[in-house]
Amino acid sequence: MVEIPIAVLISGRGSNLEQILAVEDQHRYRVAVVIADRAAPGLDHARARGIPVEVVPWSDFDDRASFTAAVCDQIERFGCELVVLAGFMRILAPVAIERFSGRILNVHPSLLPAFPGAHAVEDALAARVDTTGVTVHLVVEEVDAGPILAQVEVPVLPDDDATRLHARIQEVEHELFPQVIASIAERLARERGAAV
Ligand code: GRF
Repeated sequence: MVEIPIAVLISGRGSNLEQILAVEDQHRYRVAVVIADRAAPGLDHARARGIPVEVVPWSDFDDRASFTAAVCDQIERFGCELVVLAGFMRILAPVAIERFSGRILNVHPSLLPAFPGAHAVEDALAARVDTTGVTVHLVVEEVDAGPILAQVEVPVLPDDDATRLHARIQEVEHELFPQVIASIAERLARERGAAV
Protein backbone atom coordinates (compact mmCIF):
# COMPACT_ATOMS: atom_id res chain seq x y z
CA MET A 1 0.00 0.00 0.00
CA VAL A 2 1.27 3.46 -0.89
CA GLU A 3 2.10 5.54 2.19
CA ILE A 4 2.82 9.25 1.99
CA PRO A 5 5.94 10.36 3.92
CA ILE A 6 5.30 13.51 5.93
CA ALA A 7 7.46 15.93 7.93
CA VAL A 8 6.05 17.32 11.18
CA LEU A 9 7.52 20.63 12.40
CA ILE A 10 7.20 21.54 16.07
CA SER A 11 8.50 24.03 18.62
CA GLY A 12 6.87 22.93 21.85
CA ARG A 13 5.35 20.05 23.74
CA GLY A 14 4.07 18.29 20.63
CA SER A 15 0.68 17.04 21.78
CA ASN A 16 -0.57 17.27 18.18
CA LEU A 17 2.47 15.33 17.01
CA GLU A 18 1.70 12.68 19.62
CA GLN A 19 -1.82 12.23 18.23
CA ILE A 20 -0.64 12.25 14.61
CA LEU A 21 1.71 9.41 15.56
CA ALA A 22 -0.88 7.57 17.65
CA VAL A 23 -3.25 7.05 14.71
CA GLU A 24 -0.61 6.76 11.97
CA ASP A 25 -1.24 3.02 11.56
CA GLN A 26 -4.88 3.68 10.63
CA HIS A 27 -3.97 6.01 7.76
CA ARG A 28 -1.86 6.32 4.64
CA TYR A 29 0.67 8.80 5.99
CA ARG A 30 3.94 7.97 7.68
CA VAL A 31 5.92 10.46 9.78
CA ALA A 32 9.36 10.30 8.17
CA VAL A 33 11.02 13.05 10.22
CA VAL A 34 10.18 15.52 12.99
CA ILE A 35 11.93 18.88 12.72
CA ALA A 36 12.17 21.53 15.44
CA ASP A 37 13.69 25.00 15.63
CA ARG A 38 14.92 24.31 19.17
CA ALA A 39 15.33 21.40 21.60
CA ALA A 40 11.55 21.02 21.85
CA PRO A 41 10.23 18.58 24.50
CA GLY A 42 7.81 17.17 21.91
CA LEU A 43 10.71 15.59 20.04
CA ASP A 44 10.61 12.82 22.64
CA HIS A 45 7.36 11.52 21.08
CA ALA A 46 9.29 10.86 17.88
CA ARG A 47 12.38 9.51 19.62
CA ALA A 48 10.22 7.04 21.59
CA ARG A 49 9.09 5.55 18.29
CA GLY A 50 12.50 5.59 16.64
CA ILE A 51 11.48 8.31 14.18
CA PRO A 52 14.33 10.58 13.04
CA VAL A 53 14.42 14.03 14.61
CA GLU A 54 16.29 17.04 13.27
CA VAL A 55 16.88 20.23 15.22
CA VAL A 56 17.51 23.23 12.98
CA PRO A 57 18.29 25.92 15.57
CA TRP A 58 16.81 29.28 14.62
CA SER A 59 19.70 30.97 16.43
CA ASP A 60 22.26 29.41 14.06
CA PHE A 61 21.05 31.42 11.07
CA ASP A 62 21.47 35.01 9.96
CA ASP A 63 18.02 35.39 8.47
CA ARG A 64 14.66 33.74 7.86
CA ALA A 65 15.52 32.73 4.30
CA SER A 66 18.62 30.73 5.24
CA PHE A 67 16.83 29.10 8.21
CA THR A 68 13.94 28.16 5.92
CA ALA A 69 16.25 26.76 3.27
CA ALA A 70 17.89 24.50 5.88
CA VAL A 71 14.48 23.27 7.08
CA CYS A 72 13.39 22.59 3.49
CA ASP A 73 16.59 20.67 2.81
CA GLN A 74 15.81 18.35 5.74
CA ILE A 75 12.23 17.87 4.54
CA GLU A 76 13.53 16.88 1.11
CA ARG A 77 16.32 14.72 2.50
CA PHE A 78 13.64 12.50 4.06
CA GLY A 79 11.58 12.48 0.86
CA CYS A 80 8.54 14.10 2.46
CA GLU A 81 5.58 14.95 0.26
CA LEU A 82 3.53 16.75 2.89
CA VAL A 83 4.65 19.23 5.57
CA VAL A 84 2.67 19.56 8.79
CA LEU A 85 3.15 22.55 11.11
CA ALA A 86 2.06 21.36 14.55
CA GLY A 87 2.84 24.20 16.93
CA PHE A 88 5.82 25.40 14.88
CA MET A 89 6.45 28.93 16.12
CA ARG A 90 8.59 30.21 13.24
CA ILE A 91 7.28 31.85 10.10
CA LEU A 92 8.76 30.15 7.06
CA ALA A 93 10.15 32.33 4.26
CA PRO A 94 8.42 32.30 0.85
CA VAL A 95 10.98 29.82 -0.48
CA ALA A 96 9.20 27.09 1.55
CA ILE A 97 5.85 27.92 -0.02
CA GLU A 98 7.50 27.75 -3.45
CA ARG A 99 9.21 24.42 -2.76
CA PHE A 100 6.15 22.74 -1.21
CA SER A 101 3.34 24.61 -2.91
CA GLY A 102 -0.08 23.53 -1.62
CA ARG A 103 1.50 20.86 0.58
CA ILE A 104 2.08 22.69 3.87
CA LEU A 105 -0.66 22.44 6.53
CA ASN A 106 -1.08 24.32 9.78
CA VAL A 107 -3.41 23.96 12.76
CA HIS A 108 -4.54 27.17 14.42
CA PRO A 109 -6.49 27.58 17.69
CA SER A 110 -9.29 29.87 16.46
CA LEU A 111 -11.89 30.09 13.73
CA LEU A 112 -9.78 31.94 11.16
CA PRO A 113 -9.93 34.62 9.88
CA ALA A 114 -10.79 35.55 13.48
CA PHE A 115 -7.79 35.85 15.82
CA PRO A 116 -4.73 35.11 13.67
CA GLY A 117 -1.29 35.23 15.29
CA ALA A 118 0.42 33.70 18.28
CA HIS A 119 -2.18 34.65 20.95
CA ALA A 120 -5.40 33.38 19.41
CA VAL A 121 -6.81 31.88 22.61
CA GLU A 122 -6.13 34.98 24.73
CA ASP A 123 -7.45 37.23 21.96
CA ALA A 124 -10.72 35.29 21.75
CA LEU A 125 -11.18 35.60 25.53
CA ALA A 126 -10.40 39.33 25.44
CA ALA A 127 -12.94 39.82 22.65
CA ARG A 128 -15.59 38.03 24.78
CA VAL A 129 -16.79 35.87 21.89
CA ASP A 130 -18.99 32.96 22.89
CA THR A 131 -17.57 30.64 20.25
CA THR A 132 -14.04 30.06 19.01
CA GLY A 133 -12.54 26.89 17.59
CA VAL A 134 -9.90 25.18 15.48
CA THR A 135 -8.85 25.76 11.89
CA VAL A 136 -6.70 23.56 9.67
CA HIS A 137 -5.49 25.46 6.64
CA LEU A 138 -2.94 25.48 3.85
CA VAL A 139 0.05 27.71 4.48
CA VAL A 140 0.58 30.68 2.17
CA GLU A 141 2.97 33.61 2.48
CA GLU A 142 0.62 35.68 4.60
CA VAL A 143 0.47 34.28 8.14
CA ASP A 144 -2.70 32.33 9.09
CA ALA A 145 -4.37 33.37 5.83
CA GLY A 146 -4.26 30.29 3.57
CA PRO A 147 -7.23 28.36 2.21
CA ILE A 148 -9.25 26.76 5.01
CA LEU A 149 -9.52 22.97 4.85
CA ALA A 150 -11.54 22.30 8.02
CA GLN A 151 -12.98 24.13 11.01
CA VAL A 152 -14.66 22.99 14.21
CA GLU A 153 -16.30 25.30 16.72
CA VAL A 154 -15.48 25.26 20.45
CA PRO A 155 -17.76 27.12 22.88
CA VAL A 156 -16.22 29.64 25.27
CA LEU A 157 -17.59 28.92 28.75
CA PRO A 158 -18.30 31.62 31.35
CA ASP A 159 -15.51 30.55 33.69
CA ASP A 160 -12.89 29.93 31.00
CA ASP A 161 -9.36 31.16 31.32
CA ALA A 162 -6.74 30.70 28.60
CA THR A 163 -5.50 27.41 30.04
CA ARG A 164 -8.94 25.80 30.27
CA LEU A 165 -10.09 27.07 26.88
CA HIS A 166 -6.86 26.03 25.17
CA ALA A 167 -7.14 22.54 26.69
CA ARG A 168 -10.63 22.10 25.19
CA ILE A 169 -9.44 23.52 21.85
CA GLN A 170 -6.58 21.04 21.86
CA GLU A 171 -8.95 18.10 22.37
CA VAL A 172 -10.57 19.13 19.10
CA GLU A 173 -7.21 19.68 17.36
CA HIS A 174 -6.15 16.17 18.30
CA GLU A 175 -9.17 14.70 16.48
CA LEU A 176 -9.33 17.05 13.54
CA PHE A 177 -5.70 17.50 12.48
CA PRO A 178 -4.86 13.81 11.92
CA GLN A 179 -8.12 13.41 9.98
CA VAL A 180 -7.27 16.25 7.59
CA ILE A 181 -3.69 15.01 7.17
CA ALA A 182 -5.06 11.54 6.46
CA SER A 183 -7.51 12.75 3.84
CA ILE A 184 -4.80 14.67 1.97
CA ALA A 185 -2.43 11.72 2.20
CA GLU A 186 -5.22 9.51 0.84
CA ARG A 187 -5.66 11.82 -2.15
CA LEU A 188 -1.90 11.97 -2.82
CA ALA A 189 -1.66 8.18 -2.57
CA ARG A 190 -4.55 7.72 -5.00
CA GLU A 191 -2.98 10.20 -7.44
CA ARG A 192 0.30 8.36 -7.21
CA GLY A 193 -1.48 5.01 -7.74
CA ALA A 194 -3.26 6.42 -10.78
CA ALA A 195 0.03 7.65 -12.23
CA VAL A 196 1.71 4.24 -12.03
C1 GRF B 1 -1.69 24.23 19.18
O1 GRF B 1 -2.68 24.75 20.00
C2 GRF B 1 -1.79 24.78 17.78
O2 GRF B 1 -3.07 25.19 17.44
C3 GRF B 1 -0.88 25.97 17.82
O3 GRF B 1 0.18 25.60 18.67
C4 GRF B 1 -0.29 24.64 19.62
C5 GRF B 1 0.68 23.48 19.61
O4 GRF B 1 0.44 22.59 20.67
N1 GRF B 1 -0.46 26.31 16.47
P1 GRF B 1 1.25 21.22 20.80
O5 GRF B 1 2.73 21.56 20.82
O6 GRF B 1 0.89 20.36 19.64
O7 GRF B 1 0.78 20.64 22.10
